[in-house]
Amino acid sequence: MTSTHAFWLAGRQVTGEDTFDVTSPWDARPVGTVSVPTDAQVEEAVAAAYAVRDEFAATPAHVRAAALDHVSRRLAERTEDIARLISAENGKPIKWARGEVGRAVSVFRFAAEEARRFNSGEAQRLDTDLGGQGRLALTRRFPKGAVLGIAPFNFPLNLCAHKIAPAIAAGVPIILKPAPATPLSGLIIGDLLAETDGLPAGSWSILPVANDKMAALVQDERLPVISFTGSEKVGYAIMDSVPRKHCTLELGGNGAAVVLGDYASDADLDWAATRIATFSNYQGGQSCISVQRVIADATVYDRLLPRIVAAVEAQVTGDPADDKTDVGPLVSEAAAERVEAWVKEAVEAGATLLTGGDRDGASYAPTVLTDVPADTTISCEEVFGPVLTVQKVNGEAEAFAAVNASKYGLQAGVFTHDLQLAFRAHRALEVGGVVIGDVPSYRADQMPYGGVKQSGVGREGVKFAMDDYTYERVLVLTGLAL
Ligand code: SIN
Repeated sequence: MTSTHAFWLAGRQVTGEDTFDVTSPWDARPVGTVSVPTDAQVEEAVAAAYAVRDEFAATPAHVRAAALDHVSRRLAERTEDIARLISAENGKPIKWARGEVGRAVSVFRFAAEEARRFNSGEAQRLDTDLGGQGRLALTRRFPKGAVLGIAPFNFPLNLCAHKIAPAIAAGVPIILKPAPATPLSGLIIGDLLAETDGLPAGSWSILPVANDKMAALVQDERLPVISFTGSEKVGYAIMDSVPRKHCTLELGGNGAAVVLGDYASDADLDWAATRIATFSNYQGGQSCISVQRVIADATVYDRLLPRIVAAVEAQVTGDPADDKTDVGPLVSEAAAERVEAWVKEAVEAGATLLTGGDRDGASYAPTVLTDVPADTTISCEEVFGPVLTVQKVNGEAEAFAAVNASKYGLQAGVFTHDLQLAFRAHRALEVGGVVIGDVPSYRADQMPYGGVKQSGVGREGVKFAMDDYTYERVLVLTGLAL
């Protein structure tokens, strides 16, 4: 028997008429029952967000910063129980779930810091031309309007944090929708925000709205900004349905890790192989920046490949609640079946399976493939599972071309010691972020994060999301003694 979780409507905890159950992808045990808002309750939340927009924009920075600091502190205090909840509803191994809570602690702390810095304004003298004599422009940022934040299942706490914390920091009302598979971790943020004082009612709501009810919210003109993290298909369908709205889309990727010829000592290759194996499998590969493609120079390939296979085979699979587990289940059996079908297709097309390739319910074994034909689904699409392909190239130019031979462009990792080469990679690679000496999966939550090509538009990372939710408005002052 599990208790029913209420949701957060304009800062109040309420229930609707219907409920749905959240179960563990590991053993199908019930994790919670969640109340679903009625259409009238959704309307109430949107109306409240719209009504409060001026009041929230004018709420003093110290009030918004104190609320954000409070959430950061409370997340830190409750790390273990929140990590257990993430692990239960998502299937994420507990050690990765603890890491996710730690990141959310930082996101709220960064947001508090940014709230204190935000909108001091930038002054620009205009007397550089005769017509601007005695004039000064002061540029400050103001909300574009209330935000609709739509979060995915793979980081059910931290990617909710990345939507709601910048909104509060910038004084922008937000309606946050957590993923249907993992709503409980997002709702916890509401529990902690409700402990704070001073944020106007209506400034935030967390609504587990069913996916098939989202079209009306997406179309609602009182929510002119949409911040979506999820699949390419859904993201572009949203953007295409509201071309006049401001949409930030954080979509898929098939992250490449490039190992170049100068990265050749035993220690170098051990490090690269360990990082690649860990970050192709963390959270069952269900991260948009997990390592999907290894692109290795021919001069190191034969020494790197066995190391990668050994490191992948050393990943401990099993119960996500166990401290020793590295790789748990995928989010559902259907997700694991899809991965299984893609690997099978690649093998039938001529790929060599070096390890893995087995499915047990929602769990899929860490898998390494080589010789994968370029036209197979696994070469072209985001696998979002614990599967790695390894490809041999000759030299830097071929390596960079291989990274760019993808419709995605989120992040890339380049293992090299050569600083000049690092700068050439930065210039050549068509991605939102290049990580030198590590995998593409490295993300610090204050950095700009987002993609090019089919990986999306716009940037998250607390300060960058605040910029995204707001626009510059210039104040021209005249008759000044400059
Ligand atoms: C994502 O899957 O896009 C998020 C990755 C991260 O925050 O580490």
